[in-house]
Amino acid sequence: MDNHEVTMEKIVSLCKRRGFVFQSSEIYGGQSGAWDYGPLGIELKKNIQNAWWKEMTQMHDNIVGLDAAILMHPRVWEASGHVANFSDPLVDCKQCKMRYRADNMDQEALASKKCPACGGELTEPRAFNLMFKTHIGPAEDTASVVYLRPETAQGIYVNYKNIIQSNRMKIPFGIAQVGKAFRNEIVTKNFIFRTCEFEQMEMQFFVKPGEDEKWFEYWRGQRWEFYKKYGVCMDKMRWYHHEKLAHYAKDAYDIEYEFPMGFSELEGIHNRTDYDLSRHTEYSGKDMQYIDQDNGADKYIPFIIETSAGLTRNVLMFLCDAYEEQNIAGDGAAEDYRTVLHFHPSIAPVTVAVLPLMKKDGLAELAREIQNELKEDFVTDYDQSGAIGKRYRRQDEVGTPFCITVDYDSKEDGSVTLRFRDSMEQVRIHRSEIAARIREEIKSYKRT
Ligand code: GAP
Repeated sequence: MDNHEVTMEKIVSLCKRRGFVFQSSEIYGGQSGAWDYGPLGIELKKNIQNAWWKEMTQMHDNIVGLDAAILMHPRVWEASGHVANFSDPLVDCKQCKMRYRADNMDQEALASKKCPACGGELTEPRAFNLMFKTHIGPAEDTASVVYLRPETAQGIYVNYKNIIQSNRMKIPFGIAQVGKAFRNEIVTKNFIFRTCEFEQMEMQFFVKPGEDEKWFEYWRGQRWEFYKKYGVCMDKMRWYHHEKLAHYAKDAYDIEYEFPMGFSELEGIHNRTDYDLSRHTEYSGKDMQYIDQDNGADKYIPFIIETSAGLTRNVLMFLCDAYEEQNIAGDGAAEDYRTVLHFHPSIAPVTVAVLPLMKKDGLAELAREIQNELKEDFVTDYDQSGAIGKRYRRQDEVGTPFCITVDYDSKEDGSVTLRFRDSMEQVRIHRSEIAARIREEIKSYKRT
């Protein structure tokens, strides 16, 4: 392997070193399946979330938002099928106590009932429910059981009638939601790819039965275009069509991304039919039919097309996709590598860094003044320590698309240098033009 290729180890190391992601409870040896987002990580995550939210709600007149509670009535999870069906088949080694997911194991090892690690005897596969169960109130009895939600979708289904009534929504329409979800995953590896606590960005689109296949195709197209719009290398994306479907689905595709460990699921687009709303009708006793006032009060249970993306998994995807170790040595010169994150400027944690060439002679004060002017519009950074080349490299490494350098001429004529992360080109502009120029550059950004 080319030793300048992206690997998970390099991503993990950069994330820790530059404050994107830290191990949860690190000083106690870490908590598996959980990660903390540092100053740059939270900016990146928030920007991805905002891009998705804008795409769904601002760009589609017929989609509204919701923020439902994590804790829901336990009957919700009986109705949804999660209590009965949301499980992985597990086998344990009786000798070394290793635990495996039977569906992910080498099938020969499973059939031989021998542990791949130590050769010890394996137990029979048994279903292990992935929902975290806890209790609400002082008594830990069956009446007080609650689950941490394993998907955000159910919060949307149980509110669908409230939203129709309060916001006068007419089919076809959608409800978007971003929030935490929890799964007691057995194998949590590959950094933030699969964790026990994670965030989802889900949109449920309610349609007339019979129109579901058309809308399913529409949403497949929309979700593909989203990643293209935000500069993801599309040759690292592909579709996976499910043959084995979840208990609620009529059809399902995943958008897969080629992570360092190989192609893996990034987002699912599912035709969930009328399964969820029919089940909630049955379990709650409330009528979940839609009354189509425009068509002679026609009544039906809508079909649902779901787009379900992992927000935290998207953070990992955008990091891997942006990462490059680039040889920037001039012709005939020795190798000179910089690490650069080619984030789309509207995803990048910091949009513009302001750098005074020198700390002295009033340049630092002038640079601060310019930074203050830009703060209202952009996330900014200020860095005055070290040689300017080193400072550019530091900004490249965290994906800052624009740097403004303030020098002696800036004092005289108000001009500054605008430096572009990807091309490393520099142009001279007047300080009064910075904000408008950056806005224009963000709008017309194309990844090279
Ligand atoms: N509501 C449908 C649903 O939850 P899913 O395929 O189980 O479908 C959707 O999950 C997305 O949520 C996945 O494509 C993935 O991006 C993210 N996701 C699921 N489990 C995850 C985990 N343990 N850690 C991080 N992200 C996860």
